[in-house]
Amino acid sequence: MTMDQGSKHVKRKASFFQYRESLRMYPVLPFLDRRCNAEYKLPNSDLVVEKGLPVYIPMFGLHFDEKYFPDPLKYKPERFENGTNVYNKDGIVFMPFGEGPRICIGERFGLLATKLALVRILSEFEVVRNMKTPDVIDFTPKSFILQSKIGLPMKIKKITSTPA
Ligand code: HEM
Repeated sequence: MTMDQGSKHVKRKASFFQYRESLRMYPVLPFLDRRCNAEYKLPNSDLVVEKGLPVYIPMFGLHFDEKYFPDPLKYKPERFENGTNVYNKDGIVFMPFGEGPRICIGERFGLLATKLALVRILSEFEVVRNMKTPDVIDFTPKSFILQSKIGLPMKIKKITSTPA
């Protein structure tokens, strides 16, 4: 690998960490739903999950658990430098696409579409914060998917000249 190829590889990997960190903090679907198919006693407690009971898995809560993600409110793509197995070795805590037999079928397509949209926008527009851009996003409680109450206002300016 040449130096140039090496730095491209590093950049590609870095953008993948950003993608993962963005999905940790802003998972499109903040919870998963399942139905218990066999009675299960929760370890170290008297609680029993009965067969047939609907179960909601709080993905959003797990993604912000500082036991797994120290400093969870900080956007830190480098926390994914060692892969997702670090988080998922004792159970599954990072699952932006769900997990198991009902895992999202569009994971790769979703990644591709996100990349294409970003390339298209960023190659033609400069995107910067404006007065209304929130520092911390306030989510709407009425939405099934994770959605900002006010959208994400930004200043978007057409790039007119290309740098030399
Ligand atoms: C960044 C983009 C996306 C994210 C974060 C995402 C996330 C998810 C999540 C969390 C689930 C629930 C999985 C579970 O219950 O274990 C899901 C299911 C699903 N997703 Fe996606 N998804 C994305 C893109 C897509 C795309 C592009 C498609 C189709 C082209 C797609 C199709 C589906 C389908 C059909 C299911 C239901 C699978 C089943 O119940 O068997 N998703 N997705």
